[in-house]
Amino acid sequence: MDSNPEKPHVVCMSCPAQGHLTPMLKLAKLLHFRGFYITFVNTHFNHKRLLRSGAISSLDSLPDFRFESIPDGLPPSDEDATQDARSLCDSIPKNCLPPFRDLITKLNGPSSPTPKVSCIVSDGVMSFTLDAAKELRIPEVLFWTPSACGFMGYLHYQHLTERGIFPLKDATDLTNGYLDTPIDWIPGMKNVRLRDLPTFLRTLDPKDIMFNFANHVAQRSSMGSAIILNTFDEFERSVLDAMASMLPPIYTIGPLSLLSRQITTGPLTSISSNLWKEDTTCLEWLQGREPRSVVYVSYGSITVMTNEQLIEFAWGLANSKHDFLWVIRPDLVKGDTVVLPQEFLDETKERGLLASWCPQEAVLSHPSIGVFLTHSGWNSMLESICGGVPMISWPFFAEQQTNCRYACTEWGIGMEIDNNVKRGDVEKLVREMMEGEKGKEMRRRVVEWKESAIRATQPGGSSFQNFDRLVREALL
Ligand code: UDX
Repeated sequence: MDSNPEKPHVVCMSCPAQGHLTPMLKLAKLLHFRGFYITFVNTHFNHKRLLRSGAISSLDSLPDFRFESIPDGLPPSDEDATQDARSLCDSIPKNCLPPFRDLITKLNGPSSPTPKVSCIVSDGVMSFTLDAAKELRIPEVLFWTPSACGFMGYLHYQHLTERGIFPLKDATDLTNGYLDTPIDWIPGMKNVRLRDLPTFLRTLDPKDIMFNFANHVAQRSSMGSAIILNTFDEFERSVLDAMASMLPPIYTIGPLSLLSRQITTGPLTSISSNLWKEDTTCLEWLQGREPRSVVYVSYGSITVMTNEQLIEFAWGLANSKHDFLWVIRPDLVKGDTVVLPQEFLDETKERGLLASWCPQEAVLSHPSIGVFLTHSGWNSMLESICGGVPMISWPFFAEQQTNCRYACTEWGIGMEIDNNVKRGDVEKLVREMMEGEKGKEMRRRVVEWKESAIRATQPGGSSFQNFDRLVREALL
């Protein structure tokens, strides 16, 4: 479709993981809403998944918004399962630059129907894009999708190496209390221990792919002309203040799930970022439940566990006697199929609903939800805050441990379950959150944060204004 050749044209390069793709698509929609021509780039693998799940079926009718895809360098696959993060972190820096450069060159070529590319907005972890931007002389803004506190952890990976903390010296450091070492030298972060920093440091291997990938992309952040963060100033103020002197201009525009609610009509409302097909029957099921009576359980898109851990969660939920909506992705149990005991299924059939993928934002905004048992992925946490729902946190990896620490100690909106999950702990924490004084206090705090997030994203609020500044100062 031909477009006004004068339109500013932003190419959005998303990272091939649900927790990155979702906020990038929200940002792209907001930019389109503000008059930008958008080319949204996925990997071939995820592009096919979005088509299969129905998330982007009505492509042809989208004016000034197109999807493109590039290979990720991994062997082709038609699976609907999360790709191995380690393999991606190995492959992306080695393989993605040439096809990305070719794509931009094609978009700027004489036979291209699109306006000239005026800016690249890339996920911070897809930092190969910086090389294409430099070579083709196009400005590039980096969007770091995790929390500011998690990002700050990654920015200090280099210091961990310099201080001799990374790599760990002995395997027993993982269990002997060493991870409880206070980390008091990261500006703007207080009350954190080594175990609260993004988890890729937990290795004896100095060449570890995940650590070195995260360190590399974090170090390259200062090469962008600006940084976008999906958070809001009041929520992460001290870490944001400390970060300001380390990086190019930072624009905090979150929570994007609230900021993007201004788009209520138009062709883009029909596209979503779901990599799995959504099961919406759970919304009907919630409809008949009492206010704040249901425990919502989901571990995001990447977390995997053993069937034994799953069974501990199952009996913990059953024994709490509360209603629950539990998302069990088909690929949740590592290398195996999910097997739940028949006795558990019989006992909970009246008050438990299992789903494979649900409309999570709508679920968390439903008045029937009382608590969210989550892996503390950043999008899940923000969506929980926007719904005014306190959390029980079972962090899996990456910066989820940092998010969990902040939820429990700084923001007062969460309680943690030990990694070695036991049914008794699940039951106890669910009861405490749903019936106890601590739960009441956390609900009060999370509702305050929700109000603060709403203020930030409304006209005059910090995120609303920052989005405006981002457009004027960095993208036009
Ligand atoms: C990852 C990392 O885990 C996370 O720590 C990092 O901040 C971003 O990337 P993920 O593990 O998938 O993401 O978790 P999260 O960030 O919470 O994103 C999951 C997304 O999937 C959320 O937006 C959530 O609404 C959505 N979701 C999840 C659904 O739409 N339906 C579901 O049933 C489950």
